[in-house]
Amino acid sequence: MEIKSPTKQIYPFVLKIRDLSGQTGHPIYGNELSRFGIAGKLFPEGTFEVHWKTAFQFNLKYPSPVIKALHFGPLHSDTRTSIRLGRDLTGIGLIDAIDDKQIKRMLSEQNALGLNGRINYVQDPISKRNVIGRFGYKASSPNLIDQISKAFRDELGVTSVFYPNNPCSARASTCENLNNLGGLEVSAAKIDEIAEFLKVIPTKSFRNNTYPDINGLGLFTDLGCDSCHRANLLATPNNSSQTFKLYTDLLLHDMGDGLADGLQEFEARPQDWRTAPLIGIGTHLRSGGSLLHDGRAQSIREAILWHDGEAQPSRDKYLKLEASQKLLLEYFIEQL
Ligand code: HEC
Repeated sequence: MEIKSPTKQIYPFVLKIRDLSGQTGHPIYGNELSRFGIAGKLFPEGTFEVHWKTAFQFNLKYPSPVIKALHFGPLHSDTRTSIRLGRDLTGIGLIDAIDDKQIKRMLSEQNALGLNGRINYVQDPISKRNVIGRFGYKASSPNLIDQISKAFRDELGVTSVFYPNNPCSARASTCENLNNLGGLEVSAAKIDEIAEFLKVIPTKSFRNNTYPDINGLGLFTDLGCDSCHRANLLATPNNSSQTFKLYTDLLLHDMGDGLADGLQEFEARPQDWRTAPLIGIGTHLRSGGSLLHDGRAQSIREAILWHDGEAQPSRDKYLKLEASQKLLLEYFIEQL
């Protein structure tokens, strides 16, 4: 069954496109479908609508793209697509402030927690070395410089010294026209400035280290939520005297087929997602934001019900809670 998407959910999305391998961008349309052109210079590549389908389990809704008005011919039937929700950037500096040692410690504790989390080793565009990925829904970006320059390239078609080429050049296409505009469009110095700015955007957490609500925390631990959403991954940003709990391990986990998207990003397979940091989630929900990588969950409850794969035991324990305990747990998470 299909229902029309609520309008507020159309525009926070981007649509990633890949070939059958799930790894390489489309030869004509690149890594993402560009819905906007430049007046007089570039045609938009096309557009997509978000239609909502109903999953078999728990009657949950998930978004499915319907691509329209393609300017450079149809996409091959093998093309893979993935809807991604753009999230606000509060707290992104906290992820930057975590050192590699802590992430490796999270990894070494996996067995004891009965889990199989993995580091996504990715290529750093600056050093060209394989380093730990930590930003993005599949942890496919190692640092803010990479994350920003990739966003410039894929979301705005703007090239930089880190990503000098638009990712499509096979035929006359929007991308080819973009390449013809010539030169690198944003300087490394500007990207640096943006990175410094992102580091100081404050997080909107309600409480940092104190939880009067002991029962909510107890449930969170009993259900095994904190095996992935780790309370002991701590960030102390440079210019801050405060230490923040992020409620993530920054590792990839197999979350099952229901959440899988068909894309491979470095070592992250279609069913692998980086544990979402829960810090600031209450503010995000209060401002009308939705949850999970493609915004399919409209509440904490829906997000938990989508947990499967390595997180299935936690979800099953959640299902067995009394209604009042569920509320307590959800209330606790909203305060993080
Ligand atoms: C095996 C690891 C794992 C366990 C255990 C786990 N989670 Fe998650 N959680 C994830 C991952 C990975 C995501 C991101 C999935 C996505 O974006 O599709 C996530 C996302 C979420 C989100 C959405 C956050 C957002 O900002 O979009 C909430 C809420 C959440 N988890 C709560 C819980 C609760 C409550 C429990 C315990 C009942 C739990 N999780 C157990 C790995 C886990």
